Amino acid sequence: MKFFIDTANLKQIKEAQDLGVLDGVTTNPSLMAKEGITGHDNIMKHYKAICAIVDGDVSAEVIATTYEEMIEEGAVLATLDPKIVVKIPMTKDGVQAIKYFSLDGIKTNCTLVFSAGQALLAAKAGATYVSPFVGRLDDISTDGLTLIEDIRLIYDNYGYDTQILAASVRHPMHIINCAKLGADVMTGPLSAILALMKHPLTDSGLAQFLADHAGAKGR
Ligand code: G3P
Repeated sequence: MKFFIDTANLKQIKEAQDLGVLDGVTTNPSLMAKEGITGHDNIMKHYKAICAIVDGDVSAEVIATTYEEMIEEGAVLATLDPKIVVKIPMTKDGVQAIKYFSLDGIKTNCTLVFSAGQALLAAKAGATYVSPFVGRLDDISTDGLTLIEDIRLIYDNYGYDTQILAASVRHPMHIINCAKLGADVMTGPLSAILALMKHPLTDSGLAQFLADHAGAKGR
């Protein structure tokens, strides 16, 4: 399973990269705004800074909503760095833009996916990644994990290459359950990745090992 970090915060991206388990980054306009990154030039510079830190794919989302403008904006984003994946919303124009980029050999991430039908369309259009939002479905009392399960079944039935990128992942159990269901990638906050390593028996076991070692030395 690939681990992506869902942030535009350079410090957190570097921390995850230094940990040695990071496979990529996803961003969205809200995450860019959260870091105070505004204006075309600053946004482009920030994507380049992210690409300089990580080894894997970096999703950069279009702001455009029409097919023509998505093509124009996505083409500019794709020239920034070979790691850039053009992130496009699940709309009619978006599906057409994904098909265009797929034929052009440009990687895409179809975002804001909340149903199996949307995921099927994204795959048929040739998306590199599809992003079902697990956490936001859970937020409205719908089981986000069931969507991952359904998409996995559909993609396996027909051998679609589109990778299931479980997005809006919020905590370690989301990651574990997405892994059990066969999501290809998960994207979440650094806190969820770091929480995977925590276990009280690891802490107490290590404390015991160190105490026994110190005791043996003193004898
Ligand atoms: O980047 C898309 C997605 O991961 C957003 O997550 O936590 O805002 O629902 P969240």
